[in-house]
Amino acid sequence: MLSGKQIVLIISGGIAAYKSLDLIRRLKERGARVIPIMTAGAQEFITPLAVGALSAETVFTSLFDRQAEHDVGHIRLARDHDMIVVAPATANLMAKMAHGIADDLATAVLLATDKPVLAAPAMNPKMWQNPATLRNFEQLKERGIRFVGPSSGEMAEKGEAGTGRMSEPLEIVAAAKAVLRDEDIRQNRLPLAGKHVVITSGPTHEPIDPVRYIANRSSGKQGHALAAAAYEAGARVTLVSGPVELPDPDNVDVVQVESAAEMLRAVEAALPADIAIMAAAVADWRVASEGAQKIKKDGNGKPPVLSLVENPDILATVGHHERLRPKLLIGFAAETQNLIDNARSKLKRKKADWIIANDVSPETGIMGGDANTVRLVSGTGVEDWPQMDKTEVAREIIARAADALKKYR
Ligand code: C5P
Repeated sequence: MLSGKQIVLIISGGIAAYKSLDLIRRLKERGARVIPIMTAGAQEFITPLAVGALSAETVFTSLFDRQAEHDVGHIRLARDHDMIVVAPATANLMAKMAHGIADDLATAVLLATDKPVLAAPAMNPKMWQNPATLRNFEQLKERGIRFVGPSSGEMAEKGEAGTGRMSEPLEIVAAAKAVLRDEDIRQNRLPLAGKHVVITSGPTHEPIDPVRYIANRSSGKQGHALAAAAYEAGARVTLVSGPVELPDPDNVDVVQVESAAEMLRAVEAALPADIAIMAAAVADWRVASEGAQKIKKDGNGKPPVLSLVENPDILATVGHHERLRPKLLIGFAAETQNLIDNARSKLKRKKADWIIANDVSPETGIMGGDANTVRLVSGTGVEDWPQMDKTEVAREIIARAADALKKYR
């Protein structure tokens, strides 16, 4: 979503400007180009040298800089990019934006732009609550300016707390993605716009007693990457995830569950969906009766016997739904032997459209690793895919799913 995008970052004069240095890194890490503009106030808090070093770009500071006007000009600066992020947006800068004042480079660019603008306000809580600021805020929102934050908490000034803190860099990154995606949807560039995709991810934990459980080695990386890819393709995404160590993908509805039974309930509650992808490694069995108390050693060296019962099969349940079966239903098959035969029988038994089969023998390093080698098994045949990063596998699956969905239109 951010890869290859050009983002003009306007930094105005507030103490939160120090967080903008990290924001530059976060945006660049995700493949965006960041073109910085600093107001005079911003330069009291952080230096153009630091901003230039982190962005690896010329830092624009003045409306009447002959060199800069010669090279790009403030009008081009206002046009040749994908979006503007204003972080921090001070009360003063918001007031100027609301009133169309253009007395420096930052405000002139904001007045001249025809691209989406995202602002991250940062100011003292009293300034934020001032009716003048709140009116400017409402007015800017009405004009289509997007906002992230401010959040509440301790302020830089001692003893001051309330609403006015700038959002954290990663929250601003998530909001920037949402703005760019909305623009892509508006321009009809995303194949899954208006579609709902439900994805399961991670392992399940099946309780034995209050402190113990049965689990597996699934990391959730493939399922989470699918959720991010579906979001980037324009879909509304519900991710039903077992316990994982991963951050939630940005702008996705995440439902956290532990057991297979909970996962099934959450998936059914999330339907209807256009596409469902069951990437979770659901435990096949759970303990027949979960101990209400911690199971103790009996002192005779005799271990307890755990009797297991089969878990509901979520993929099969959804596949056999009469009314709510998604148009496209995709399952995974993690196997250590007879990969294709097993995948084919799952395709039939669970009424899935595709099975993404992968060999998870320990020597492949797939379980928990970053790469995946998969085969797409469908009613029409088997396709071998080369080894790819799990993110690339996810994008490819989503692109293929979006194509397949066109048939149902
Ligand atoms: O039968 P197996 O566990 O190998 O099937 C794998 C596929 O079925 C995966 O897509 C997995 O998410 C799904 N599954 C499920 N519920 C289960 C077991 C597996 O949805 N109880």
